[in-house]
Amino acid sequence: MHKRNFMLGCSLAAATLLAGTAMAQDNTFKIGLIAPLTGPFASTGKQLEAAARLYIAQNGDTIAGRKVQLIVKDDTGVPDVTKRIAQELVVGDKVHVLAGFGLTPLALATAPIATQSKTPMVVMAAATSIITEASPFIVRTSFTVPQVVTVLADWATKNNIKKVVSLVTDYAPGIDSEKFFNQRFQANGGVVVEMLRVPLRSPDFAPFLQKVRDAKPDALFTFVPAGQGSVLMKQFTERGLDKAGIRMIAEGSVTDDDILNGMGEAAVGVVTAHHYSAHHKSERNKKFVEAFGKANGGLRPNFMGVGAYDGMRVIYEAAKATKGQGGEPLLNAMKGQVFESPRGPMYIDAQTRDVVHSVYVRRVERIDNQLWNVEIQTTTDVKDIGKTR
Ligand code: PHB
Repeated sequence: MHKRNFMLGCSLAAATLLAGTAMAQDNTFKIGLIAPLTGPFASTGKQLEAAARLYIAQNGDTIAGRKVQLIVKDDTGVPDVTKRIAQELVVGDKVHVLAGFGLTPLALATAPIATQSKTPMVVMAAATSIITEASPFIVRTSFTVPQVVTVLADWATKNNIKKVVSLVTDYAPGIDSEKFFNQRFQANGGVVVEMLRVPLRSPDFAPFLQKVRDAKPDALFTFVPAGQGSVLMKQFTERGLDKAGIRMIAEGSVTDDDILNGMGEAAVGVVTAHHYSAHHKSERNKKFVEAFGKANGGLRPNFMGVGAYDGMRVIYEAAKATKGQGGEPLLNAMKGQVFESPRGPMYIDAQTRDVVHSVYVRRVERIDNQLWNVEIQTTTDVKDIGKTR
């Protein structure tokens, strides 16, 4: 009798425990954030994670009575790893949404998982035009390369740049940069004398920069992914391109806010086009930059950080609307969101699920002994043109 009572007690306890677990599961809203936290693109991962955590700290960790659980995983920047982690997050952790994606190949590798499992996937970093077409469950809060480089091409033409050499990283966003900048620049009457591509991993720009020097263009147009701009800038001056009177114009990843200060005098005067500058003059951005720095030992947010911060906004507001339900309802609640980001006004186009925002031409300037991307021109409501070619 004694033993029976004991057994009964045990199974009840187990049942209560199980019910408790089930309830905990029902009462969570899970976000699976996949980012390169180690390896050559760790600076991107750091920005994504820091911004996501900041958003939660500022906006609370409960949505519609559910506890928000941010599950952060390191994919080291390798597509097969991203895909495997996404699978585990969807099947094992039953996340409501996948987020992050520091590089285009990582987003493309994961797209089929989002489609098959009907899990919304928020691309916070990667920027090749084609990404949103890889799955109907993808929503993008970063930017697209064609959006920004076409604005830069128009600026270059209007600013007496007639002859360029393009130098890009040899993978999808680099190829988008090369194609869309050069096409627009040539349509404006400009001449592209040479097109150069450097490898993504451990690039040595020096031999390519020598070729640029020999070609004597008015300007070098360049794209490298976040984190690689410092090496490029150093080799640009070491090879004497600045002294030879060759200007540098670039897709904004090159003068990445979180490493810009370390680039030194060589960066001053470089003109880029992008959707976010830590120097953007708005109350919203001032607060964001301050809070981000305070939470991260003085680190400046860059465009990766803002992509993640805004991505969290899109997820939170959608989850509030669906009361924590995932799948297609969550995806639909992400479409068409309009809001004021630290970058400026933005919205998620309900048809394309892609970001629409202002694109700024910026010039690197030294202000109070710090380097900033200072906005000198604004084009509003820029849609991705990559998909309408
Ligand atoms: C990308 O892989 O899509 C990507 C990565 C870093 C950038 C821009 C684009 O700075």
